[in-house]
Amino acid sequence: MGRAGFVAGNWKMHGSLARNQELLEAVVSGTRSLQNVSCAVCVPYPYIVQAQSVLEGSHVAWGGQNVSQYHHGAYTGEVSADMLTDLGCRYVIVGHSERRILFGEENRVVAEKFRAAQECSITPILCVGETLAQRESGEAEQVIATQLDVVIDLAGIETLRHSVIAYEPVWAIGTGKTATPQQAQDVHEFIRSRIAVHNSKIAGDIQILYGGSVKADNARELFAMPDIDGGLIGGASLVAAEFISICLAAQN
Ligand code: PGA
Repeated sequence: MGRAGFVAGNWKMHGSLARNQELLEAVVSGTRSLQNVSCAVCVPYPYIVQAQSVLEGSHVAWGGQNVSQYHHGAYTGEVSADMLTDLGCRYVIVGHSERRILFGEENRVVAEKFRAAQECSITPILCVGETLAQRESGEAEQVIATQLDVVIDLAGIETLRHSVIAYEPVWAIGTGKTATPQQAQDVHEFIRSRIAVHNSKIAGDIQILYGGSVKADNARELFAMPDIDGGLIGGASLVAAEFISICLAAQN
């Protein structure tokens, strides 16, 4: 396959200067020998400077969890991709289901955020995924296809060369209920086939992560599936030993 692994932590709204310092230092030292796997942590905005100062020069990248669709202007409370670039962010999560569901971000806004990140050379980690009700009513593939199509229509297929996709079934996030490796694999394969309609090279090259209750003890079997290239890790990314083991599991 030839795709390198990638593991990104999504700290969500957790942390403090003191706790982050310990966690970041432990992650840097615990992942020092990683080969053929990239790793990153997506931290709350106020801590990006701290992440930069600890991670600069290490092989752990840092990023944001959200970004404005606008580049500058009178948008109180927003943070632009230009600002994230200024702070050395290599990645930003866009379209996380918590943003979609709790903060009303629709597909079109997610696509605009994706494009704004691209315009500043930040790699967007585009989250897609269905709710339990959508899965149970057989709509999962349609929901995910639409989430992808809106981005491809707005930003163009070429932008997927420099992006990462995370399949995160909403019913598996923070619930302790992981998709089985086969359930996740089926969706990852579907995502790749959907992209292949536009460009098969991009479909074969793009990293597709699985997210939703990934832990040290289930990461290996998920990452062993042919279309799963790594993970987007919430809760377990706050515990250094867990996060490090998950990064190591993406090596094989
Ligand atoms: P979780 O979160 O690992 O805590 O389930 C994943 C995510 O929301 O990205």
